[in-house]
Amino acid sequence: MEEHARHHERLLIIDFGSQVTQLIARRLRELSVYCEIHPYQNVTDAFLDEFSPKAVIFSGGPDSVTREGSPRPPRKVYDLGVPILGICYGQQVMMQGLGGRVVGGEGTSEFGRAWVEPAPDRIDLLKGWFMDGAGREQVWMSHGDHVAELAPGFAVYGTSPGAPFAITADLERRFYAVQFHPEVHHTPNGKTLYENFVRDAGFAGDWTMGAYREEAVQKIRDQVGDRKVICALSGGVDSSVAAALLHEAIGDQLTCVFVDHGLLRLNEAEEVVGMFRDHMNLQVIHAQEQDLFLGELEGVSDPEQKRKIIGRLFIDVFQKHANDIEGAEFLAQGTLYPDVIESVSFSGGPSVTIKSHHNVGGLPEKMGLKLVEPLRELFKDEVRALGRELGLPDSFIGRHPFPGPGLAIRCPGEITTDKLEILRKADAVYIDQIRKHGLYDEIWQAFVAILPVRTVGVMGDGRTYDYACALRAVTSVDGMTADYYPFSHDFLGETATRIINEVKGINRVTYDVTSKPPGTIEWE
Ligand code: XMP
Repeated sequence: MEEHARHHERLLIIDFGSQVTQLIARRLRELSVYCEIHPYQNVTDAFLDEFSPKAVIFSGGPDSVTREGSPRPPRKVYDLGVPILGICYGQQVMMQGLGGRVVGGEGTSEFGRAWVEPAPDRIDLLKGWFMDGAGREQVWMSHGDHVAELAPGFAVYGTSPGAPFAITADLERRFYAVQFHPEVHHTPNGKTLYENFVRDAGFAGDWTMGAYREEAVQKIRDQVGDRKVICALSGGVDSSVAAALLHEAIGDQLTCVFVDHGLLRLNEAEEVVGMFRDHMNLQVIHAQEQDLFLGELEGVSDPEQKRKIIGRLFIDVFQKHANDIEGAEFLAQGTLYPDVIESVSFSGGPSVTIKSHHNVGGLPEKMGLKLVEPLRELFKDEVRALGRELGLPDSFIGRHPFPGPGLAIRCPGEITTDKLEILRKADAVYIDQIRKHGLYDEIWQAFVAILPVRTVGVMGDGRTYDYACALRAVTSVDGMTADYYPFSHDFLGETATRIINEVKGINRVTYDVTSKPPGTIEWE
């Protein structure tokens, strides 16, 4: 259990392996409720005693409760006398565990948007629901099985076409169970449901950023004393906020290394180094390693290979520069809570790797460094809030995320300096357009990808044979799911014209309208 958490009222999320369990925690944190996610295998009777939750949530999960040996919570959880909310698989496991029945097969599944109709009896959990004209509520479903018979003590408070028991509750025991996912963005009123649940459970909401900042500064001072810390500064929100927080705690005992891999956006290195070194007076080493990275990436077009090369070189370069900092004993990392949460693994092996993410893992052991991870209890939004608390400019805090491997993964196929040059210019025009139209803050992330195809065009009276590019812009709350941004045709047309006119080397512009899933945000 996180040490920091002991001062707060705690909610326990038992994870049954849903892809969106973390979103439950985010919703709760937004409500100033401290919660932790623990895989069901780890939640033993002894754990429950030690954790002493004020309320419990069962997450969704990919298994079927009709399968023998499928995951279960410990029986003891039902005897704690605290409210429990079951989501999707969590609903089914609760029903089955308390004497109801769950079935699978034809007609029991529902995927995507659905509408829940209320039952005649309204309960406090649903205060603020069913308020639109039609009196229904939009929710997001993703289930194969469904509850066919309620457990004793439960009643139905909402139904949907594929889930006759979409919302169920045993008011006496304060056990609630829903078939849909209130934590995802596509259940627009889901936060209200969580709010009603935690207020009913008696949470005061004592998790604030101001308090976190003071505690975190003290904790860093206690851990580091008068020793030195090094930090890989990427210019992204996480490492920037971590650096600012450390600087506040230990001043010049911190040195940052900014690795320029030649895959940054237009003017990015100057902006980052300028801001931290000149504006905030941090000690920053600017490692200019463009030739090394681009040299090793020459001729490589496989996305995973690109990621691995960049990850490896990043570590080498960081280590080289860090070795020059005498007496450094700690490495600071902007690790966030989502990286810390141990995920449920059914096979016993690691879950499917969609993309190997870029980080500095392995470094601390190799260099004999201890870790300082001042953000490890926070979600991305909370990091932004902390950044504001620390006085980082909004223009910095509000920047769209930028991946560690940089433009390499926005350049499918071989990376060449020519293509990177074209990509940088096109990206700058696109972002300029978005800012000019006042859309930057509405969009989670926007960028250009240069495609590995050339197409024929006509400009003036001449034939052109240049690269095509794709514009990407998505809305998202956390990068885990995303929708494409619905630009107007005027905006798209104007942007395409500007890019083709202003960027030599591109003669065709397309707009990527793929959501995530099934796509990912980046192209590689
Ligand atoms: P995908 O493409 O997986 O991206 O939908 C989700 C979010 O993660 C960012 N991303 C990365 N960030 N290192 C990072 O620090 C990486 O290797 C990496 N790959 C993707 C991506 O930009 C998006 O915000």
